[in-house]
Amino acid sequence: MNFIVHSQSRINAFLNTCLSEVQVGDSRLKQAMAYSLLSGGKRIRPCLVYATANSLELDHNVADYLAAAIEMIHAYSLIHDDLPAMDDDDLRRGQPTNHIAFDEATAILAGDALQSLAFETMAQAPLDPSIVVLLIRLLARESGLSGMAGGQSLDLISENEQVNLSQLQQIHAAKTGALLNASVMLAANSVPTLAFKDNQLFNRFSNHLGMAFQIIDDILDVTQDTATLGKPAHSDIKNNKSTYPGLLGLDEARNQASLHIDKAYHALADLPYDTNDLQSVADTILN
Ligand code: IPE
Ligand code: IPE
Ligand code: MG
Ligand code: MG
Ligand code: MG
Repeated sequence: MNFIVHSQSRINAFLNTCLSEVQVGDSRLKQAMAYSLLSGGKRIRPCLVYATANSLELDHNVADYLAAAIEMIHAYSLIHDDLPAMDDDDLRRGQPTNHIAFDEATAILAGDALQSLAFETMAQAPLDPSIVVLLIRLLARESGLSGMAGGQSLDLISENEQVNLSQLQQIHAAKTGALLNASVMLAANSVPTLAFKDNQLFNRFSNHLGMAFQIIDDILDVTQDTATLGKPAHSDIKNNKSTYPGLLGLDEARNQASLHIDKAYHALADLPYDTNDLQSVADTILN
């Protein structure tokens, strides 16, 4: 089994266990949480956690908790992103979005409860408590005002507005880059002996990868069809979003994505560790 497939099946099993251990029977809210958490997806963020863990010889029995926490935050972010008040989309991973399959109130609460479960899961990571506190802080920062939620707010404010490249870069780094960055940095910060300069290289890698990831997502919104994406094509155009292809055109957007990818690969090459698995996650994102 290759690394990506192995990581996907490992996190799927672990997420299943996390949710089934919540001491609530078969409530509607729990069904809505399971619907979005256990419904596939590429599991890119968990793959980044496991790949970083492999570079640093961090035990996967520890990485499971970090990977699950970040994927729960991601699932919550997608449920809320699709709501009528945000992107108003009705399809996700080839299925009706959470608020269509359930209802808006349940979708909001499913997102809220997934966020709580993420921190509950993180708090149980089998690491020294002082490290766990540091990781919880990192996850909170990257999910919150200065990370994903803040970026989502900027994304919405920028609908129907002309933003410049530096503003757009800031939006993408926050709404998407922050959680990709957290995926790598949760694992990196679990290893207290990691040298500062190597910590910085992991950080540089994940920041550039995160930027490339959202630029590519913007490009796919324009160039692919709904069946291929499993989510509505042209959603950004419908909402008059600020995007890389919208601001720069498709060719220059592709060029910007490949500049970020080159920088990400350079950071990897400078790390004195085996980074093959990180390389393969990056390759997967590109393809
Ligand atoms: C979609 O993320 C939202 C963005 C940040 C672009 P993914 O492309 O990782 O979504 P899934 O989890 O694979 O469905
Ligand atoms: C989503 O960006 C970012 C987050 C969910 C945090 P998009 O709105 O472009 O993601 P998709 O295209 O709906 O997956
Ligand atoms: Mg959005
Ligand atoms: Mg969206
Ligand atoms: Mg998109």
